[in-house]
Amino acid sequence: MVIPFLDLQAQLKPINKDIMVAVKDVIDSGNFIMGNQINLFESEIASYLGVKHAISCASGSDALLLSLMSIGVKPGDEIITSPFTFFATAGAISRLGAKPVFVDIDKHTFNIDPSLIEEKITSKTKAILPVHIFGQPADMDAIISIANRRGLKVIEDACQAIGSEYGGLKAGTIGDLGCFSFFPTKNLGAFGDGGLIVTNDDNLASYLKKARLHGSSKKYHHDFVGFNSRLDALQASVLRIKLPYLDVWNNQRRYVAEKYSSHLQNHFITPFVASNVVPVFHQYALLAKSEEERDSVLDYLNSQKISSGVYYPIPLHLQDCFADLGYLKGDLPIAEDVCKRIFSIPIYPEVDYKTVLDSLDSFYPS
Ligand SMILES: Cc1ncc(COP(=O)(O)O)c(C=O)c1O
Repeated sequence: MVIPFLDLQAQLKPINKDIMVAVKDVIDSGNFIMGNQINLFESEIASYLGVKHAISCASGSDALLLSLMSIGVKPGDEIITSPFTFFATAGAISRLGAKPVFVDIDKHTFNIDPSLIEEKITSKTKAILPVHIFGQPADMDAIISIANRRGLKVIEDACQAIGSEYGGLKAGTIGDLGCFSFFPTKNLGAFGDGGLIVTNDDNLASYLKKARLHGSSKKYHHDFVGFNSRLDALQASVLRIKLPYLDVWNNQRRYVAEKYSSHLQNHFITPFVASNVVPVFHQYALLAKSEEERDSVLDYLNSQKISSGVYYPIPLHLQDCFADLGYLKGDLPIAEDVCKRIFSIPIYPEVDYKTVLDSLDSFYPS
């Protein structure tokens, strides 16, 4: 590919030496599990996000699972969420024997549509789990107000949204709990899997600190059955080097997104950004007029060796594994339509956006 979908090597070049030193320090210390690097990373990221507690864990998927456990989700409970997200959002709900209840998305932001939430609340509903898809925060004021009125918890899936803001607050810090992923392709990526849960609630934090360590706060004493979900000290040391660069990288993503949007708005529906939001463009997603047009643009980009992707081709309510939930085609029309027409073009701080735009220009000569 002339333009890859993501170029992690380019990001690493200026910080490679610092990372090597940090990794060597961990290796020399022999402390690979928990310890100093984890404590430092958790306090640095809590202060970056402006939140009281940051609890690291093994992945964003585990962050979701642990968060749901912390609010006592049990088999038969219902959790309201978006059908337009990575599988892990709903997978975590199902893993606990609870039921994902999918609510259609807003056609502008691709995030859960709060005006459709209340009609899906039942006596079994325990929480709302909005996803800040592609790094654009969901409509948190509306979601929090429904949750407060109906006595529900809010868990934010901020796995794609680290550094983004809603009404001046960092996404992930607005609900009861926020979940983040450090999967290598994320805006803040580790050299492997990693995750984080944030909360301002002391009781939830104390539960989560034990839950990731087999329900234990004192060696060989177990208060409840948790599981093994820790961030490696090596990953924490890498993330500590990268964190100070996150805002610069997110600014560069916003710059590229502006260039893309001003250039492409005549051909596609470009990302909508709400006025009280600062997005971080984990993905830059465009909507074509039809599935056919989308597919021909993708073929063309491929022929030009410009990477592209479809996030997501199938909404979660129509996944085979959720067939027993009984959703049918047409139940969530906006999400289904978006899945047919959406596609993403490369966005990362160092991307050669001009080459991407030149290529799209030759597909749509003016
Ligand atoms: C929206 C969303 N939720 C959850 C996850 C799960 O994160 P992880 O891959 O770290 O388990 C991801 C990332 O892959 C994601 O994009």
